[in-house]
Amino acid sequence: MTRRLEEGATRTRPKLPGRQDWSSWPNYDAAAEGFRGYWYPVTWSSHVTGKPKAFTICGEKLTLIRDNGTAYALHDRCPHRGVPLSLGSQQFPGTVSCPYHGWTFDLTNGKLCAVITDGPDSPIRGKVGVPTYAVAERLGMVWVYVPLAGEAAPPIDEQLPEELVGNAFVMGGRIDPRAGNWRFACENGFDEGHAKYLHRTSLWRLFKPMPVWNITRVVPEGRWIYRVQDEVHWEADFPGVGHWTGKRWWKLRPPKGTFNVGNTGTPKKVDPVIEKQGFPGFASLSMPGVLRIVYPKFIHYEFYVPVDADNHRYVGVMVNFLKGVATARFYAKYLGAIRWLFHGQFSGQDAWMVDVTDAPPEKLYRPDVSLTSWRNLAESTTKQKLAALKGEPS
Ligand code: FES
Ligand SMILES: [Fe+2]
Repeated sequence: MTRRLEEGATRTRPKLPGRQDWSSWPNYDAAAEGFRGYWYPVTWSSHVTGKPKAFTICGEKLTLIRDNGTAYALHDRCPHRGVPLSLGSQQFPGTVSCPYHGWTFDLTNGKLCAVITDGPDSPIRGKVGVPTYAVAERLGMVWVYVPLAGEAAPPIDEQLPEELVGNAFVMGGRIDPRAGNWRFACENGFDEGHAKYLHRTSLWRLFKPMPVWNITRVVPEGRWIYRVQDEVHWEADFPGVGHWTGKRWWKLRPPKGTFNVGNTGTPKKVDPVIEKQGFPGFASLSMPGVLRIVYPKFIHYEFYVPVDADNHRYVGVMVNFLKGVATARFYAKYLGAIRWLFHGQFSGQDAWMVDVTDAPPEKLYRPDVSLTSWRNLAESTTKQKLAALKGEPS
C-alpha cells in the first residue's frame, strides 16, 4: 500500500508480520457496525420517558420514548425534511411529533397519523411513516431488535443467557459509551492472555494473585464458546531473561490445581443456580457479543453494543441469584465497592486497551485461540442465519 506524503513523493509502508486482514472471516470483517438480526440493550429503562431521546445502534439512528408505561423505538428521522424525531415532543397520547412542522407519528406502527400544520384533512396523513423496532425490557434495560432483512423479532428470551430466564436475581450494572470498535471490546473480553498481565495492577486484584500463564482450550457448547483451563502457572522462568511471578507477600496464596469457576481457585461453595448450569469454563461468549464470567457466587456479564464503526457501548452487569433480605446486602456491596473497583477501574483498563488496539495487521500467539474461536463462531452463526433467511438448508 502506498501513501502520499508530499507533492509527488510516495512511501511504501513496511509489511507488518502476520495476518494482513480479516478476509478469512468475511462476515465478521464486514460487521464493523455490528451484526444485525439481534436484540441489543440500549439504555436503562428509567431513562426512557415521555420525552424522546436519541440513540445509535449498529449505525442506525433511533429514538426511544415511553407512553403509558410502554417503551417504543422509531427510526430517528422525520420523512418530511429529515429532522430527528428525538428533538420533537409528545402532543397527543400514543404519538410523537416532529419539532419542525408537527408531523405526528403513531408510536405503535410509525404511521403519520396527523399533520398539525396541514389541518385535520391533510391528504398526506396515513400515506407515509417511519420504521419502528421491536422493544423489550429486561435486566432493567430497554432492548431493541435490529433486523437483518425486515424479519420479525424472535423472542428476546432466546437470546438472553439461559440462567437469566426463569431464575430470580438481583443485579447492578453500568452502561458507558466507549471509544473503539465493538469487536475489539468483545475480543478483549474473551481474550485469554491479557487479564493476568494487564489487570495485575488493578485494585480489584490487590489481594488475589493472577497466574503468569495458562494452557487453555476453547470448547463450544450450544450457542456459547467456553475457555477451559488445563494448566495454570503461578511462576515461570523465562530462558535467558529471568524469573517472573504475580505472587506477592501481601496477596493470598495461589490455589493448587486448576479450576473453571472463578479465577482464584476451586471454590468451597458455589451458588446452586450457578452450579446447576454446569458451565464447562469460567469465561464464555455468545453472539452478538455477550461475555459471561462465572464466579462462585455471582456472574458478571458484558454486552458490547455496536454504536458505529468507531464507538460502542459497554454494558457491564453483575448478577446474584438472591432473594429476600440477602438482596439488600448485595446492593450495599455493589454500590459501595464492586461498581467502582470492578465495573470502574478494572474494566477501565480494558477500555484503555480497546481504544488503542490497531488491528489487523496482527500476529496472533497461542492464547489467541480465544480470539480465533470467537471469530469462527461469529462467522459460522452468521452464515447459518443468512442461509436461513434465504430459505437455504444450512
Ligand atoms: S421535518 Fe419533520 S415535520 Fe417537517
Ligand atoms: Fe480485561
